[in-house]
Formats: sequence, C-alpha cells, structure tokens
Amino acid sequence: MTSLISGVAHARLSAPDLGRMRAFLEDFGLIYVDGDKDRLFMRGSGDAPFIHVTERGAPGVAGFSYIAANEAVLRDLVKAGDAAGVEQIDEPGGGKRVRLRDPNGMEIALITGQTPAAPLPPRPKTRDAAGASVTERPARVRRFAHCALTTPDLVKSLDWFQTKLRLIPTDELYVGQEDNTLGRFLRINQGETPQDHHILFVFRGAAAGVHHISFEVESPDEIFVGFNHLDKSGGHDHVRGIGRHALGAQLFDYWMSPFNQMHEHWHPSEHMTEQSAFNRIRIGEGMSYDYGERPPERFVKQSSPLVIA
Ligand SMILES: [Fe+2]
Repeated sequence: MTSLISGVAHARLSAPDLGRMRAFLEDFGLIYVDGDKDRLFMRGSGDAPFIHVTERGAPGVAGFSYIAANEAVLRDLVKAGDAAGVEQIDEPGGGKRVRLRDPNGMEIALITGQTPAAPLPPRPKTRDAAGASVTERPARVRRFAHCALTTPDLVKSLDWFQTKLRLIPTDELYVGQEDNTLGRFLRINQGETPQDHHILFVFRGAAAGVHHISFEVESPDEIFVGFNHLDKSGGHDHVRGIGRHALGAQLFDYWMSPFNQMHEHWHPSEHMTEQSAFNRIRIGEGMSYDYGERPPERFVKQSSPLVIA
C-alpha cells in the first residue's frame, strides 16, 4: 500500500530569540516570508509557502509537517481516533491539517490544500556581460527534505511511522551483531514514482529528540557555496562536512543553529521506488563508510529536545 503522505512540508522549531534565528537561517540560505514576535516563517526557492517555522519558546523542535496523499487521509485519521479533528491552518499558504502524536509525543501534522508559492527562478548559469564568478552568497536552498530522530524505544517508533504513515524501510544500520539495530531509514512509497532515499532516519538514543533537519540545495555546487558563506560570515557553528553519505549517495554539510538545532545542506543523487532493495549494513566506528572526515563526537551524540505543547 502506498504511503499516507506524498511529500515533506516543513519543520517546526522553537527558539527564544527569533531575530538571532532569522540571521542564522538567512546565512544558511532560507528566505524570510512572514512573522511576528512569536513566529518566524522562512521559505526556499521551491513552491512551498514555507519550509521552516520557529515559534518563540525554549530551544528545541516541536514537530514536522507532511503533505497528505489526498484529503480523505485527513478525515480517515480523525475517524480512526488518531487526530482530534481537521483544522484550518492559520499560516502562510493556508490549507487544512490534522495533528498526530508519535510515541514520544512529538507533533506530526498531515496537511492538504496549501496554496503553493511561486518558485524562484534558478540561479543563472551563464555569465552576463557585466558579471563575474561571484560566489559570496548563501546556498540556494530548494526545499525541506528530511529529519533524523533519536528515540529510546526504536521498535515502537519505527512501528508507528511504518504503520501510521505507511512509510517503508530503505536501509538499516546495525552495530556488531545483526540484531543490534542502531537505526533505520524510512522513505515514502508512491509506487513507481521516484522518492528520496529517506524522509526520516530513526535511531536509538538516550532521549527522544531530533538529531538534525535537512534541506535540499539546488545543485552540488550550492553545498560548497553554502559552506563558504556560513564560514566567512563569522559566528556560525560548523559541525561536520563537507562529505558524502555512501547510502543514498548524498552530499552533506552540517551547521548548528544558535539554539543547538542541527541544520543540514544536502544534495542527493540516488532515488528509490517501491521496488528498490532493502539493505542491512554493519556500521563501523563513527560512520566510517561515509566519505570525508570522521564525524566529531558531538555529531554522534547530538539530540535537540522535543518541545511538546
Ligand atoms: Fe540528513
């Protein structure tokens, strides 16, 4: 059966200082859409009305929103008792949503009927008569792509996402013995329509939380442009990269927000369909199958707390 969702919409974060958050996100490559003293909405260059919202509060992550495969999905979830009701969305793009809770209490929203934004034109590739190879600018971020969650009960969390949203497993990592599962990548199933390697990576952690949130940049070049800009802008906290995840052939670069929420610039070159093979992979110390420098200890231990309203 295909997934209840057909895409990824936005991440919902919480931070005490929206001005500092906006400054970081603009250097990261997101574009201001709307906001007030309590909310900050940012978009990418794609057609999503926003891909990142921060609510004023304690540092952490409040949840994630996904595009429902169709409107009936919302009604069915209410009918099944998984959500209290279908709500109108009072945020850029409007639309309707239902809000679920994963086993750790994190909010997972399914939305439908958002009015898309006009996509921004891609960066010109041809130099004009007065132009030069200027790359001193933020990365061109297209869309929100995925997140990684930490959970103290891996079996329960995976079961919830696979049963409730009908996500399917792409790859699984284990340490030492085959039954010592560290985590699993889950993707959307829409039959033969190609999908990202994962929209979720769920792995074992001491506490429930969010390891990182990830944003697709327009091209591999934007990974390097984005690194350069954040590095030269000063005051930003680089965690890991530039590198390449062997699984899913994904380029990455990880930066920490001022409020300890890890943000990834990401560009994939492999896609999956319903038929793509599932693999179990033994992981070496420090994710040693990846390309680039070994991850620092704080990358491995990272987990932003959940903010549960
Ligand atoms: Fe990622």
